[in-house]
Amino acid sequence: MLLNGKSLIRGEALKKRVLSGMRPTGKLHLGNLHGALANWKKLQEQYECYFFVADWHALTSDYQNPAHIQEYVKEMLIDWLAAGLDPQKATIFIQSKVPEHTELHLLFSMITPLAWLERNPTYKEQKRQLIEKDLNTYGFLGYPVLQAADILIYKAHYVPVGIDQLPHIELTREIARRFNYLYKEVFPLPEPLLAKVPKLLGLDGRKMSKSYHNAIYLSDPPDEVRKKVSQMFTDKSRLRKTDPGHPDICNVFSFHKIYTNPDTMAQIEADCKAAKIGCVECKKILAENLIAGLGPHWEKRAYYQGHENELQEIVNEGIRKATQIAKATLEEAKRAVGI
Ligand code: TRP
Ligand code: SF4
Repeated sequence: MLLNGKSLIRGEALKKRVLSGMRPTGKLHLGNLHGALANWKKLQEQYECYFFVADWHALTSDYQNPAHIQEYVKEMLIDWLAAGLDPQKATIFIQSKVPEHTELHLLFSMITPLAWLERNPTYKEQKRQLIEKDLNTYGFLGYPVLQAADILIYKAHYVPVGIDQLPHIELTREIARRFNYLYKEVFPLPEPLLAKVPKLLGLDGRKMSKSYHNAIYLSDPPDEVRKKVSQMFTDKSRLRKTDPGHPDICNVFSFHKIYTNPDTMAQIEADCKAAKIGCVECKKILAENLIAGLGPHWEKRAYYQGHENELQEIVNEGIRKATQIAKATLEEAKRAVGI
């Protein structure tokens, strides 16, 4: 029985469990803020949430250059808190600090057929795309096995992820099914949660991504934001200011929808369609609104940068809570196998 994401068991309302992770491979950008983080922030109101920094997973692709992982872990945690993840509501921790993940990963690696990993579309796609990296490792092939351990060690019901991660959730379900069949019914089958998020693209109109060098970072100072906004692609068919524009297909306007008040937005929309406002001016308005809108985020970032101990305590508490559950599940799994 489902009640606002809660199931009623023996009369008590038990919240369903949500888990997700992010790899610390770079600074967070606006795409992350309005995508995953906004979604996580909502989910924490309704579910028992576990959010972790997947530092082992960062190593699978960056093992040749791990120098920045540590710094990205910290930046990521700061951005999570600045974005409104609340340690009173969600358990926030670092994957490598709960070593039970890796032990369950080893156990799962024993039962996962190689063919399942070799045919994984995300694996094939990444090997094709990231040609500058050596991905011919055992660890990279086993990436989804570690992810399955991340998810199943908390017996998560739901896993909020992007579409690119769906094959990994399917593999997680297959590994859980195989374990349950071989030994004992230990793991529930998790389900992916796909969020509806606003379509915000990078400066060049492609998906906002660190690897495309088209992102506005949450750590960018105001002048950098101004510069980047001024470089944004607009309605391609609008070559001159005298050409009427199409705000509905303009990425700049998608940002206005979030950062500009409704009256100004309606005015811009009308003026753009009537060729009464130029893109340069439109972008200037956006840049200032973006800077104002990000103000609270920047303040919170600065706060945690100046209060490292507080950050450390939050994460330590998260690690403590996560470890309790992880230990219990690992014991149960080992008992089921008889080891
Ligand atoms: N693979 C995920 C990504 O690249 C990160 C991740 C690792 C994850 N472990 C997870 C996501 C467990 C959800 C659940 O985005
Ligand atoms: Fe886009 Fe603004 Fe230019 Fe219209 S005026 S095309 S909304 S940038």
